[in-house]
This record gives sequence, C-alpha cells and structure tokens, in this order.
Amino acid sequence: MLLELAKAKKILFFGGKGGVGKTTVSAVTATACAELGEKVLLISTDPAHNLGHLFGRKIGSKPTRITAGLDALELDPHEIVNLHLKEISSALHRLMPSNLYSEVDKHVTLAKDAPGMHEAAMLERMADVVEDGLKDYDKIIFDTAPSGHTARLMVLPEIMSAWTEGLIKRREKADRFAEFVRELGEDTSMQDKTIGNADDSEQERESQIRQILLRRRHKFNHLRERIADSDMTSFVIVLAAERLPVLETIELHEQLKQANISVDCLVVNKRAPADSGEFLKERQEQEEIHLATLTGALPVLPKQDIFLRAHDIVGLPAVEAMAKQLG
Ligand SMILES: Nc1ncnc2c1ncn2[C@@H]1O[C@H](COP(=O)(O)OP(=O)(O)OP(=O)(O)O)[C@@H](O)[C@H]1O
Ligand SMILES: [Mg+2]
Repeated sequence: MLLELAKAKKILFFGGKGGVGKTTVSAVTATACAELGEKVLLISTDPAHNLGHLFGRKIGSKPTRITAGLDALELDPHEIVNLHLKEISSALHRLMPSNLYSEVDKHVTLAKDAPGMHEAAMLERMADVVEDGLKDYDKIIFDTAPSGHTARLMVLPEIMSAWTEGLIKRREKADRFAEFVRELGEDTSMQDKTIGNADDSEQERESQIRQILLRRRHKFNHLRERIADSDMTSFVIVLAAERLPVLETIELHEQLKQANISVDCLVVNKRAPADSGEFLKERQEQEEIHLATLTGALPVLPKQDIFLRAHDIVGLPAVEAMAKQLG
C-alpha cells in the first residue's frame, strides 16, 4: 500500500508523533523507490538531524548521495535563518543609503528571534528545495519533525501568504518590515544623504520592497498549491499501535484535513509479530484494541503494517533490508 502510494505521488510527507519511526519509514520508502529506478530526494525538516543518525554518516544542507538514485539533505533552521537574514540585509543595503547600514543590520539581528522567523525561513527554503527538487528528481520525500511542528508548517504557507498579502496591501498599517523601512525613510539624517529627489527615491524603495514581498508571496502560494494538490502530494502518518500515538494520529489527521491536505495512508510501525511468544501475543491483542479505535475514527484510510524488528535500524544495509519487505 505504502509503496503503491509512493509510486503514484511526486511529493510525500511523513509525519507523526515523536519516536514512532518517521525517519526510518521515510528512508525505507525513499530507498524502495530508488531501487525501482526513481531518482529520489529525501529531506529532513527536523532540527534533530535524524537522517544522519539513521544512515550513520554526515548529511548536510546540500543533497548528499546515499546510494544509486537516492540523495538526502537536512534542512537546518539556524543555517536557514542566518542565510535568510543575510539576504534580507543585503536587499535592504541595496535600498538604503550606506550611512544607515549599521542601523539596518541591528534591526535584522534583532529579527533573528522574532516569532515565526524560523518557520518563515524554513518555509521559504522548503519552497525553493521543492521547486529545484522537482527539476532534478522524480520524487521528493519529507521526513518531518513530530506532529505539532509539522502541522504548523503545513498550514503555514497559507498564513505566510496572507501575511505577505497584508504587508503588500496595508503597508501604512503596523507591519514590522514596511514600518521599519518607512521609519528609516522619515529619518532626516537619511534624507540629507539621499541622492536626488527624496520623493522619487522613496517611491523607488517602496516599489522594490513590494517586489520582494510579491516574490515571497508567490513562493508561498506556489508551495501551498503543490502541497494541496492531491494528485502530486500526499501525507503519510506514521504511528505505533499504542494509545497516545493513535490519539495524536486522529488529531493530526483532523488538522491536516482542515488545511486541505490529503492523508492517504497510515503506517502502523513496530507491530508485534505473531508467533513470537506469549508476551508479544498479549501486546498484539492490545494493539488490536487501539487499532479498532483508529479504524473507528478514520474508517476509510488504508493502513500499512510494519513489524517490530529485533534491532534498531541503523545504516544503509538495514534500511535496504526493510525496503525489500515493503513491496
Ligand atoms: N520497525 C521497527 N523495528 C524496530 N525498531 C524500529 C522500527 N522502526 C523504528 N525503529 C527504531 O525506533 C527508533 C525511532 O525511530 P525513528 O528515529 O525513525 O523515529 P522518528 O519518528 O523519526 O523519531 P523523532 O520523532 O525523534 O524524529 C529508532 O531507534 C529506530 O531504529
Ligand atoms: Mg525523526
């Protein structure tokens, strides 16, 4: 079921509660697709850098070859925020007279910890990675951070796009970016130093800022369209057949539904194998009870079971061995 779904979509997100196996299952799916001859890019949006731990090697923010047909990369929020602010700062430098550079830099440094900054930067990077990735790869697979964070990121393109829209439409109101620029524009020391007509340069600045915001809005809208396009993108929730992961799955499914994101498969990982003694038999019976709750809440969603293995999954051979059992 999971492999069939993976074959049919270009973008797959794996989400779910902490520790249920998102990184493992997304890597196994990516490896299985690569073995079928597809070019796959596996991306982690989790600051904990799980992919490197799983494959037992360093994976950075650039695509790193894991095996034939499979590249991986880890998006690092800190690195992304720094890069993002550097871009903003150099854009502002281009728009401002040089005597205000240090003022601009001070504001940009303060913005580093502003609410939503990490998410906005992460989202912009995701938008870029998806657009570039779709050119170079057949499939993009996201291993995401635990539920709450992921759901926030998934609805964020909409929020961000509304936010930039607001900035564009109502700059005269209280947006931080435009207000900051306007304040600087009203700064008399700047007007003294501005070359040429102050009104013209003010207008020029406004239109350049507008361009930056429009570009950003376009990126967010585009990412939102891609994520909401159910022919192209699907979200897979990974869970364990335990009480809390089941409850969180039902909740995450609801949040994604509200955001118009289609969940097409549930992966029930670490299932107790049958015929492995009395202890696991008891666990299996308990799992059935939790899974009945899940089926009651989400009756039409197909489920794929993955059995608990005796050992942790570490290194490419272990991932490949699991991938062989997917099909
Ligand atoms: N089917 C399985 N059998 C045995 N161990 C498993 C299985 N799936 C995952 N594991 C192990 O469970 C642990 C957690 O898995 P993983 O890192 O994939 O979860 P995660 O959901 O990505 O966690 P996090 O929320 O921290 O990102 C790892 O040690 C992994 O090797
Ligand atoms: Mg993980």
